[in-house]
Amino acid sequence: MRSVLGYRRPPEDTQPAYLEPRYVSTLKRAPTQPLVLLRHTLSEISGPVFGRECIGPRDHDLTIQHSGEPIGERIVVTGQVLDDDGKAVPHTLVEIWQANAAGRYRHAIDQHHAPLDPNFTGCGRTLTDAAGFYTFTTIKPGAYPWRNHPNAWRPAHIHFSIFGPSFCTRLVTQMYFPGDPLLSRDPMYLSVPNDDARHRLIAKFDWQTTIPDVALGYQFNIVLRGPEATPFESPSGGSP
Ligand SMILES: [Fe+2]
Repeated sequence: MRSVLGYRRPPEDTQPAYLEPRYVSTLKRAPTQPLVLLRHTLSEISGPVFGRECIGPRDHDLTIQHSGEPIGERIVVTGQVLDDDGKAVPHTLVEIWQANAAGRYRHAIDQHHAPLDPNFTGCGRTLTDAAGFYTFTTIKPGAYPWRNHPNAWRPAHIHFSIFGPSFCTRLVTQMYFPGDPLLSRDPMYLSVPNDDARHRLIAKFDWQTTIPDVALGYQFNIVLRGPEATPFESPSGGSP
């Protein structure tokens, strides 16, 4: 078989540690043995990829997916998906999921004592354009409690999945909001050891995309690989 040049692994401290004692679920799921790194072959660095036919016309706007309007502060989230050499990643699938303005997910497992919003599902998807840019219109998610430790609250966040050019480059991460007082107490956010890498998870407030009388703009660029890579979640488990 023809040998292929695999994808580079991210620098170590730019990604969350598998074992982070303050983030209690990692105690159960962190590997106890050194990982075995698998060699990338042609099937990992080529398709399959997702095409434009997967995307509905309202999928990028979470405020118009129902008959009424969802409760909450409107926001526009834009950004560019980049490869490790700064090259834009065009026509790639970007998906988001989030809690509603009250901090509750529309999911059977979420029994947080907060109201569901009949006009908000909390899921969106789009493809980046030819220059690698994406745009979502949504509402700002609320903070919500979780059972990691006494009085634990997750900072407001939006979950992101970005496929990139192949399955091997798929990245799952969370976008946070600037100035959130819960960030300094969140073990999940703090599980990224490198300060610069951790700060890349916080969106920038953006006047350019703020729409007068309608919505505040936030910019969240995503780098799939390399020294500037956006920290992504451990492949060994999910997160609330
Ligand atoms: Fe979440």
